[in-house]
This record gives sequence, structure tokens and C-alpha cells, in this order.
Amino acid sequence: MSIDKIVSLCKRRGFIFQSSEIYGGFGAIYDYGPLGISLKNNISQLWWRAMTQLHENIVGLDSGILMHPKVWEASGHVGAFNDPLVDCKECKARYRADELFEGDSNDGDWKKIACPKCGTTGNLTEPRQFNLMFKTNVGPIEEDSNIAYLRPETAQGIYVNYLLTQNAMRLKVPFGIAQIGKAFRNEIIARNFIFRTREFEQMEMQYFVKPGDDDQSMKDWKFERLKFYDQLGINSKKLRFHEHGPNELAHYAKEAWDIEFEFSFGWSEIEGIHNRTDYDLARHQEFSGKKMEIFDQQNNDRFLPFIIETSAGLNRMMLAVLSDAYWNDEENNRVVMKLHPRIAPVTAVVCPLVKKDGLPELGRKVMDILKPHFKVIYDQQGSIGKRYYRQDEAGTPYGITLDHQSIDDKTVTLRDRDTQVQNRISIDNLVNAINDSIESYS
Ligand code: GAP
Repeated sequence: MSIDKIVSLCKRRGFIFQSSEIYGGFGAIYDYGPLGISLKNNISQLWWRAMTQLHENIVGLDSGILMHPKVWEASGHVGAFNDPLVDCKECKARYRADELFEGDSNDGDWKKIACPKCGTTGNLTEPRQFNLMFKTNVGPIEEDSNIAYLRPETAQGIYVNYLLTQNAMRLKVPFGIAQIGKAFRNEIIARNFIFRTREFEQMEMQYFVKPGDDDQSMKDWKFERLKFYDQLGINSKKLRFHEHGPNELAHYAKEAWDIEFEFSFGWSEIEGIHNRTDYDLARHQEFSGKKMEIFDQQNNDRFLPFIIETSAGLNRMMLAVLSDAYWNDEENNRVVMKLHPRIAPVTAVVCPLVKKDGLPELGRKVMDILKPHFKVIYDQQGSIGKRYYRQDEAGTPYGITLDHQSIDDKTVTLRDRDTQVQNRISIDNLVNAINDSIESYS
């Protein structure tokens, strides 16, 4: 199944639109429509709950997108992205030119050099000086002294606030700080729909541990993060770990693992789990001149914690969810988004069979009963079959139909999206029946 099918379904059903489409679109930026924002929120709320509610020692934070420019010098982003870069047009791997060619990169015959990742030749771009960060100016005058950057990762906002947070919340190591927010990267090659975009959202958690406890913590977080994907209903066979080799490791990482999903364009990263050591805190200590050490009361000791980072892309996670859910049900000539009911944008559609005989009025009453519990919509337009199929594509797991019997005995039919089986149940029992079905969904 090609990504194009998902792209067109997302547009048709109001999940995702190309940014500024009336002007011909704007490169690698996407807007989220009514169903898209709902699905995205449902996914991020599950993550937020998993981090900040189910762990007593993880707290939340929301830091600014713009930060002091020195943050990005300390983090290495100003320096690290200033090298000449070459990209593989085939597999989108990006290399510093000097990794692939010794000497002056301008002398390299890049058409003859093979991409180490996918092995193809002739697909490497010419080297170019490139910084991934978007620049802007703070204040009315554009000059070098007031340059600011749109953050390329949310992590640094956590590092510069970690001691304030720790003091305010009286946290003891090990503890974590979680954040969800926008990040921006001026990607050279942005492809595959919302997989690689210039504006995206990260869900990052930084876990502060004693040096020496980092290896065990890394193991624990790898296990826990993979388990999280069960809640999204993603097929576990489409998930795997990939360990970064020495050439892939980011400048800050001692060890790094990606959680990869099998997209239609191949296995690709949706989340990274990194042992960042004390690299970032040591650099901020150096660049700010402020002590970044934590005080250990028990041992009357000060130290720089090591950091285990779990860094997931919300948009990529959503693309994985959408890709996994897409089902071309040929037997019944329909396309179904088999989204887990827990995260489906709409839980149920209420459909009076006809627009008369008191059915719309009863339908409105059913809406009022369900609204406080679930996102429900009302649809009386078109044949019942067409209404169901519209909702199958939107991933709505339940269809509630009212017919003339409903007026007599206050029962409705509850249709299951995946099996199309319909059960007659009493209106009073609807909330419980839907809740039970969500809980037992597999
Ligand atoms: N703080 C560490 C960090 O940012 P990363 O591997 O560069 O690490 C983490 O990014 C996650 O952010 C990735 O696994 C991916 O899901 C998401 N991500 C990174 N660049 C992205 C882009 N251009 N578009 C969409 N998501 C992106």
C-alpha cells in the first residue's frame, strides 16, 4: 500500500491538509484538520499520561520555542550543523561530507561515491554549508547581535530549567521532566508526507540519573517505551529496535536506539532513546558559568546527573498509527481505518434510519446521553450504508442506528466497524457497552 492512499484519505476525511494549499502548498509543512487534531491530541494525551501520571517522579514542563541563542552554542547545534553536508536522495541519509571523502569536499566526485546506508551510487547531493536551524531576529532591527533560533529539539528547554524544576518540586534523582512541543528543522530533503517535515512536534522526556545508573536506566526505558505502542494498538510485528553504530551516534550520545516502524517506504525511526551522559549539562555549565550540579543530601555531595532521553515524534507516531490502521477490505468493498477505539477521533456516529417519525428527536437524546463520555457525531444524511462507509474511512469504531423499534422499546443497534456485526441494546446500556468494547478491543 503506497503512502499516496493515506495522503488522499487524510485529505478527503479531514485528517491532514497540505499547508497553504490555495497558494500551491508550502514545502514540508502540514495542517491538521478536525479528525487529525483529534487523533493527534488523543495520542499525545496517552503519552502525557504514561509519563506524568503513571510515574510519580516525572513532571511536566512547557518551555518557550525561542531561547537564549547561547543555548544552541552550548548544545552544539550552532557548530554541529555548520559542516558541509551531503544527502542521499534515495534513502534520505545525511552525512557530513568529510565522513565520505577525505580532503576538500569540493574536490569530491560525488556522483561516483556510494551511499553507505542504501548502497546506491549517483544519489548523493553536492556538499553544501547548511545549518538545520531556522533563524529569526528578536526586536525591530535585523542584525547579527539579535539572532534567535527556532528550537530544533525541545530537550534543551528542559535542561536549562532542570534545577529550577527540581527545586520547586523537591525531586530526588532519579527523576524525569516531560515536554510536548513544536520543533523546527530546515530539512533539505523533506518527503514521505508527515514523516519528515520542517515543523513538527516532539514528545520528549529527560530522565536524570546518577552516573553509573545510566546503563540500567537505558535498558528500563527501552523496554517501557516499546510497551507504550501497545496502547496505540500498533501491530508489534511492525516495530523493532535499531541500535546506532559509531558513525550514526549524535555528538551528545554514548548509546542510542531507535524504535522503528515498518512504513510503506521501509523501516524508519519514530522514536529515539539516547544516553546523553552529562554532555548537555556540562556544556551549559561551561557556557553559562552557572553551576548545573545537583546536591545529593544523603551523601552531602554534588554531581552532574546523566540523562536518558526518550524522544518521540508525535507526527511520525501518528503516521505509524494511520499506516497500521489502513485496511482495504476488498470483500466488502470498503476502506477502513482500523484505529484503536481509545484513540479514534470520533468514538461513535448516531444515525436515525429516517428523518421523520420521531427518530431525529430520539437521536438527539442519544447524543445528549453519550456526549459527556465520548466524542460522538450525528449523521442523518444519505443512505445508512453510505453513512457507515464514511465513518469506516474516518476510523469511527461504533455506529448507533435508531429505527422504528427504537421508539417502542428504547433500544438501538450498535454496529462494530471492523466486523460490521450489529447488536441490539438498550439506550440505557449504551455507555457501558461502548466502554466495555473499548477496554476489550484487540
Ligand atoms: N532530542 C533528541 C532529538 O531531537 P532526533 O532523533 O533528532 O533526536 C527525535 O529526533 C524524534 O523527533 C525522531 O525520532 C522523530 O520522530 C522526530 N523528528 C525528528 N526530525 C523530524 C522531522 N524533520 N519531521 C518529523 N519528525 C521529526
